[in-house]
Amino acid sequence: MRARRSCLAVPGSNPRFLEKAQGLPADEVFLDLEDSVAAGAKDEARRNVVAALREGDWTGKTVVVRVNDVTTRWTYRDVIEVVEGAGDRLDCVMLPKVRDASHVAWLDTLLGQIERATGLPEGRIGIEAQIEDARGLVNVDDIATSSPRLETLVFGPADFMASIGMRTLVVGEQPPGYGEGDAYHYILMRILMAARAHGLQAIDGPYLQIRDLDGFRRVALRSAALGFDGKWVLHPSQVEAANEVFSPSQEDYDHAELILDAYEYYTTVEKRGAVMLGDEMIDEASRKMALVVAAKGRAAGLPRTSSFTPPA
Ligand code: GLV
Ligand code: MG
Repeated sequence: MRARRSCLAVPGSNPRFLEKAQGLPADEVFLDLEDSVAAGAKDEARRNVVAALREGDWTGKTVVVRVNDVTTRWTYRDVIEVVEGAGDRLDCVMLPKVRDASHVAWLDTLLGQIERATGLPEGRIGIEAQIEDARGLVNVDDIATSSPRLETLVFGPADFMASIGMRTLVVGEQPPGYGEGDAYHYILMRILMAARAHGLQAIDGPYLQIRDLDGFRRVALRSAALGFDGKWVLHPSQVEAANEVFSPSQEDYDHAELILDAYEYYTTVEKRGAVMLGDEMIDEASRKMALVVAAKGRAAGLPRTSSFTPPA
């Protein structure tokens, strides 16, 4: 699985941002041809994006282009120009406003045709699907199995809130009047369940109050706590925050590695399946939970600052 703690949105119509994004420590960048690009600037944005992919240095990042949704007049040309022009530089295509599996199947077919025509390895370019309205959410299980290229399901809060009539204009924040709970809980969990049931990553969408870093952290922590793999970032200041929020803490990482080592020792050397580690009982299920945290910590490059000592 590719790291996607921070997924940086970069408008394809802005060459300065396309340049600047290359130097930021985001796990993923997606060069946007959709909603951050005005209708009159789509052609130029495609050219900018192909040039940035060809000439830029994107080393160490997952590189994605977001095309327009399948109901527009732009989508086919977005895919053809970008993949013909720079398909070898591209990890995934992001498809917004996916409402049913046929949208992804269409993109899968078109990618296959371009790959065959241009000699690119077949099936290498992945797909990210944005879930942005009620129909997409109702069909999310079908969408999750719509193509072997699919790598992630991405929540699109702005479009989603608009489509269901949620009464707020502040993307990512709770609607005024909703006193308790989290208005996004069901949507986030539904997407997460579909992703996990089918071995995909689940990514949370943008928080638009870009000057409110505390607000970003608070909202990001909620989806990170549920198990989401990462979140969109719209501004350099959000990148480090997302990388931190979607990595385990040093303490949790050390503890996870400790559980793994202790469990290994007790089950193999002492041949016991449920044992005490300090005040905590650990068993096979604890090992699985520890594996999740340890994998995220290793992927984030955290060092180990403690180790397991077998009893004398
Ligand atoms: C992202 O595309 C969103 O609509 O929030
Ligand atoms: Mg959207």
